[in-house]
Amino acid sequence: MKKWIENAVFYQIYPQSFKDSNGDGIGDFQGIISKLDYIKQTGFNAIWVNPCFESPFFDAGYDITDFYKTAPRYGSNEDIRKLFEEVHKRNMHIILDLVPAHTSHLHPWFKQSMRQEKNEYTDRYVWTDREGRNNVDGIQGVTGWLNAVSDRNGAVAVNFKACQPALNFGFAEITDIENDWQQKPSDEGPQKNIEEIKKIMSFWLDMGCDGFRVDMAGSLVKNDSEQEETIKIWQNINGYIHKKYPQAVTISEWGEPTRALRGGFDADFLLSFGPSYYMDLFRNEKVLDFDSDTHFFSKSGNGDLTNFKRAYEVFYEQAKKGGMVCVPSGNHDIPRLSTQLDEDEIKLAFVFLLTLPGAPFIYYGDEIGMKYIKDIPSKEGGYHRTGARTPMQWDKSLNAGFSAAPWDELYLPIDPDENRPCVEEQLKDETSIYNTVKRLLELRKMHSCLGNTADFEFVELSDDRYPLAYIRNDSKEKLLIVINPSNKSVECRKTEIGEVIFTIGEDYKNESDKMIVAPCSAFVAKLI
Ligand code: NOJ
Repeated sequence: MKKWIENAVFYQIYPQSFKDSNGDGIGDFQGIISKLDYIKQTGFNAIWVNPCFESPFFDAGYDITDFYKTAPRYGSNEDIRKLFEEVHKRNMHIILDLVPAHTSHLHPWFKQSMRQEKNEYTDRYVWTDREGRNNVDGIQGVTGWLNAVSDRNGAVAVNFKACQPALNFGFAEITDIENDWQQKPSDEGPQKNIEEIKKIMSFWLDMGCDGFRVDMAGSLVKNDSEQEETIKIWQNINGYIHKKYPQAVTISEWGEPTRALRGGFDADFLLSFGPSYYMDLFRNEKVLDFDSDTHFFSKSGNGDLTNFKRAYEVFYEQAKKGGMVCVPSGNHDIPRLSTQLDEDEIKLAFVFLLTLPGAPFIYYGDEIGMKYIKDIPSKEGGYHRTGARTPMQWDKSLNAGFSAAPWDELYLPIDPDENRPCVEEQLKDETSIYNTVKRLLELRKMHSCLGNTADFEFVELSDDRYPLAYIRNDSKEKLLIVINPSNKSVECRKTEIGEVIFTIGEDYKNESDKMIVAPCSAFVAKLI
């Protein structure tokens, strides 16, 4: 059966910062509902909402205290049900954020687990067998240990930050053979956690959501060097969910499609970490150095996609067996696309993002080129990520149309630049980033060979590192996409090209024995 994800184009919403409907300074479900028509008219047909569950917000909601209840600041369970309905009314889909690998340190399960007496939750987290045994270095998948957090005689593993104790899914390799604190995935605690994850997913799917983006999906089993045990757990969970809800979609934050897709996910993201070389595209390793120019979409022409292409081809081969590879414009964890790209470069980046296979994911605000805001104080464990999470800029009214609250009560400050981009202005300007994105989304919709599952192949048009070129095709049509972000024209091999159906800048010129691709340009053309 064909699933809706095969035609999905996602818009990622950070609920805190998207649209505040009740003037308390923070975004909410009703605010999202009020902007669904905007999202649809732009050309998106699916939404991913970051965690919106009850939480003390030490990590912006990735530290959950009740997996079955929304955070009151966004609205009630009834309100989110209404959001699901409004999304579906518009023939769109919505996925939530599932955080399966840890809870908040304030979750009632963890409070039970901290007790001395054995109880239902004793083995549901990764504990050592004695206080002080927190120097167990080299345990893969554990980012730290908390010692003496309670009278329980043990140290507990954390999965990310100290506020996120790791749920126990067992150890693939037992390294402390003299003691018995490292459990196996088949033990009772891990098995109960697996069943609980299925229950959480079923709860929201029954309410009407269409699937999940799965946080740190690769981190379940510890000491799992090849992640085979984690893959098995996901085969179990995804197998169960996909059988019970054949249209439900799961998309992993794993960053290694060769592993994630074997675990039964419908798609996996390329991420700023992992083996994908995603960062070679639009940002580089010095992401907070605003002047860096060694990434591919920089005008400097200093970029190199050799490693990216090699990795992508391997992932794409895996995807052909089932599943997708998704290349996001950004997300709430990394500086925005605009950090190291100017407006022209961003438009070219969107040509790439919106003509690739796999479901596109555009982070809210990227469609208008919102800026990463430097040097704002950390909010809810965001630290350097906070600058990529500021309120959406809708119009020229108070607080950029985000909220009616006094400015000092906003969740985060608005970009202070008086020339900051906003939706209202960009809608009016034919050449804006917004209208470029919209045009590209229309193009993708009109040409099925540009879709999520149609064929893809890189082509080398020159011996230079620029331009980037690839072919998309299906039984109906074959298109060539050529992108030259560098500010130099490039001599390419002569290529027989038909009608050009999309351009940014000038397209190509044919000379007797070569083709010249203009600087800072992109085109999509039919192949004869
Ligand atoms: C990845 C999420 O994207 C990030 O925001 C979060 O802090 C960690 N996982 C921990 O859940």
